[in-house]
Amino acid sequence: MGKIITVANHKGGVGKTTTVFTLGLFLSKKYKVLLVDLDPTASLTTQLEFENSTDTEGVSEFIKNKENANLDQYIVSTKYENIDILKADEHLYMVESKLSASNKIKGCILKTKFSLIKDKYDFIIIDTSPAFGALLVNALISSNLVVIPVQNEFSVFHGLNLFLSTIEKAESLLEKDFDYKLLLTMYEKSIDENEEQRKIIQSSFSDLIFKTLIDYDPLIKKAGNHGESILGLTDKSKAAKQYEQLSLEIEKHKKKEYLTIN
Ligand SMILES: Nc1ncnc2c1ncn2[C@@H]1O[C@H](COP(=O)(O)OP(=O)(O)OP(=O)(O)O)[C@@H](O)[C@H]1O
Ligand SMILES: [Mg+2]
Repeated sequence: MGKIITVANHKGGVGKTTTVFTLGLFLSKKYKVLLVDLDPTASLTTQLEFENSTDTEGVSEFIKNKENANLDQYIVSTKYENIDILKADEHLYMVESKLSASNKIKGCILKTKFSLIKDKYDFIIIDTSPAFGALLVNALISSNLVVIPVQNEFSVFHGLNLFLSTIEKAESLLEKDFDYKLLLTMYEKSIDENEEQRKIIQSSFSDLIFKTLIDYDPLIKKAGNHGESILGLTDKSKAAKQYEQLSLEIEKHKKKEYLTIN
């Protein structure tokens, strides 16, 4: 039974897409993984190279398919043996605004659809855009765990509190608690303020933060879409090693009660 993880933060550029891609790569060494690109800018989609036809309809059609018939048709295999993807496409903006304009809370659309395919995967990992809109609410509702990458910087609390209070509002509106955990990204130990900040963040969020943190590491950036390079970088790149470590933390959570299926 697949576990669904949404990676989200309404602050841009904090490492959401990098986390989805790299975590997916390491989990795919042992598990079958589906990546879902819910960001209309499609940065995750462009990081993947496809074996199959690239003209397959993407996640918009997956969402729009009212009968939920043959949902597999929208899933594309990638050059990585255990990774499939639901690609972002140009219609996602429209889907987002249609869902948002709807009077009803249509937050269960993705949850219903994922329930029909999740037996095929051990992990479904969703990349989201910085916008807190209907697509994100849908992703949150479908998830067993929300991973919130936060950059280790002075302003982190302001942005984070805003995001968490928005999550709380969604929780009370939808009468559902979301399980979330923070992931410290782009950490630079050599910067004194960064180290101070890390201690404050880790003590403030204790259980709600992953033990693994991710260093700022130009090698991860440079590896870009070369997944094989990232998997082979664990000796040289601290961040790659840390993402491998994170995949083990996530694997442990898979067995925990709070990751039981909704
Ligand atoms: N640990 C890291 N060390 C160095 N650079 C990183 C690290 N993680 C991510 N980056 C780089 O930071 C930039 C932003 O990362 P990413 O695209 O993953 O963020 P994002 O949160 O998905 O952004 P957006 O909100 O625009 O979707 C990218 O250029 C990426 O290569
Ligand atoms: Mg992104």
